[in-house]
Amino acid sequence: MKHLDELLGKHESLAWRGELHLPVNGIGYDSRRIAPGDCFVAIKGFQKDGIAFVGDAVARGAGSVVSVHPPAPEFPLVTWAQVKNDRRALSAMASRFHDDPSRALRVIGVTGTNGKTTTVALIQELLGPGSAAIGTLGMHFAGDSRPTKLTTPEAPELFAFMAAALKAGCVNLAMEVSSASLSLHRVDDVVFSQAVFTSFSGDHLDFHGTMENYFEAKLSLFKRLGSDQWAILNGDDPMGPHIIRELNCRYVTFGFSEQADIRALKFAFSTEGVKGVLQTPRGKIEFQSRLLGRFNLMNIMAAVSSALVNGVGAERISSALASFQPVKGRATIAHAGDFLVVVDYAHTDDALENLLQAFREITRGRLIVVFGAGGSRDKTKRPRMARVASRLADLVVVTSDNPRQEDPQAIIADIVAGFAPGFTAFRAEPDRRAAIGLALDMAVSGDVVLIAGKGHENYQIFKDRTVHFDDFEVVREKLGRGDA
Ligand SMILES: Nc1ncnc2c1ncn2[C@@H]1O[C@H](COP(=O)(O)OP(=O)(O)O)[C@@H](O)[C@H]1O
Ligand SMILES: [Mg+2]
Repeated sequence: MKHLDELLGKHESLAWRGELHLPVNGIGYDSRRIAPGDCFVAIKGFQKDGIAFVGDAVARGAGSVVSVHPPAPEFPLVTWAQVKNDRRALSAMASRFHDDPSRALRVIGVTGTNGKTTTVALIQELLGPGSAAIGTLGMHFAGDSRPTKLTTPEAPELFAFMAAALKAGCVNLAMEVSSASLSLHRVDDVVFSQAVFTSFSGDHLDFHGTMENYFEAKLSLFKRLGSDQWAILNGDDPMGPHIIRELNCRYVTFGFSEQADIRALKFAFSTEGVKGVLQTPRGKIEFQSRLLGRFNLMNIMAAVSSALVNGVGAERISSALASFQPVKGRATIAHAGDFLVVVDYAHTDDALENLLQAFREITRGRLIVVFGAGGSRDKTKRPRMARVASRLADLVVVTSDNPRQEDPQAIIADIVAGFAPGFTAFRAEPDRRAAIGLALDMAVSGDVVLIAGKGHENYQIFKDRTVHFDDFEVVREKLGRGDA
């Protein structure tokens, strides 16, 4: 049984009241999930201050409270530790509570604007049995699967999962590290043995304010790596050199450029996938994969770099790449017949650009794209997405993504305003099902229809309701089962 004083660490607390050498059953930040004997860490969030829920936590049996606020006189019986930074305290306490499991695992953190989910799944496959993964698809290893609301979960869930993975015999953990999780100290106490940088662009500016803040958040993951740890960097990305300048660890780069340590020597993209040869410091590796498009070759190179650093051999890499199944909704085929229908999660201008460019390379006929933009999120990307679509697609159907609190028509108007001057090859249809129908009606032999934005999601969020919606199902419904 751990005690509050050992979990907190002396430097963490500014002031306290009551018995600090108090047994702690568990650590929680959501008062509704507090059980008797737990420590309630009352986080001062953007919208709500956890201090408002101390009453609820105490009523459920919380033995102690950790907060940036001084001890509250209303709860005289509960032990109270005041800390400088509540999120840091939550992370440190959760890690110690589970005996710092990240030290015993080989943790590979994957960050970047796009490609994290795919790269994590690839790394898990390449490293083979004994590898766990955390990210948008949840937390899982053989025999255990837990859903996550956040791409990078809060520290208590994160470390509890790591402890379970360790106990089950896992040695590797590949995890997505979102920039929000870095800014909010969720992974402060995770010891990474490698950090992978996939790509960088302007998503999430609503949260981070400026591009610099956003990049700084990502950079912090690399700055903290020590001499026996590795950075694995996209050598084609203009941000690469900025990261390299800040490193105190060993690094390798991957990409198409001749300077990259791991580079694509030969490659051919088709609607079946990609095959070719990689040049690596350990020699050439022949590969083939069912992953579609140029950006996925970047993800393949990122994952191969990580595997090589981990000592995985070329043969194992080739066979694992060949058997890897694309992650649902990441450039995955929803229908293959006369024309191809692809569902993809691209919901930023950067991802949309990569997606369209990638499919331009493999489309004989016309490229038709259906997309929208999420409401109540970064609005600046809407005209940029439009500009990209009008430049790279032949036909565009603008529709709704998850409108959330906004009026779908207003979002569409923001997008339409961004089309290149004179661009008229578009239709606007707020009903996503009808919009997909329009695109499929227009498609003829040789065309590719890209349905972008929602990927694996099976819901659509409106102001007053959330409805079931699945791009794959809609395609099946419109085209029948048949040759998919
Ligand atoms: N390396 C990459 N560079 C640019 N865009 C990418 C890359 N990999 C994937 N994408 C695009 O981003 C979308 C999301 O990919 P995903 O692997 O889920 O990344 P993330 O977890 O970072 O959101 C994909 O559907 C694709 O359109
Ligand atoms: Mg993800």
